[in-house]
Amino acid sequence: MSHMTERMKELFDKVPTVVLSTVSEDGIPNAVPVGAKKIIDDETILMSNQFFNKTLNNMRANPRVAVTFWEGHEGYQLKGSVTIETTGQRFEDTARWIDEKSRKSGVPRKSKGAVILRIEAIYGLAPGPGAGKKLA
Ligand SMILES: Cc1cc2nc3c(=O)[nH]c(=O)nc-3n(C[C@H](O)[C@H](O)[C@H](O)COP(=O)(O)O)c2cc1C
Repeated sequence: MSHMTERMKELFDKVPTVVLSTVSEDGIPNAVPVGAKKIIDDETILMSNQFFNKTLNNMRANPRVAVTFWEGHEGYQLKGSVTIETTGQRFEDTARWIDEKSRKSGVPRKSKGAVILRIEAIYGLAPGPGAGKKLA
């Protein structure tokens, strides 16, 4: 497992969306923005599935994903495998969280699942000599 630093976690929380990249059984890549994301701990993040379509099919066929986020020239790429929880405490907490967001924004949406990423590697994205370097 790889651990996010305090700075990585701060940036993850701060950015409005992260990019979730998956790949289909046939090797076709897919990348989508995800706004409903949370840190569980240094090596685990959660994303809520409201609208995942190709993304969901891809993760079912191949749980290995990349999550990319950045601000200015600072950015990180988290890689690992996901599990999709559609029952249990984390799913119920996520469903409540999305219900609340939905009520506040007036945009109807429902969580269909909590996508849990266990981080196995972290890469830096900042342009320059260290670009793409494995950080953890
Ligand atoms: C700014 C933004 C934020 C989004 N956040 C989420 C999200 O948190 N959860 C979700 O399921 N879909 C979210 N979506 C929708 C997905 O990005 C995407 O439309 C959906 O997964 C369908 O695409 P796919 O067939 O490639 O999976 C968001 C879209 C945008 C534009």
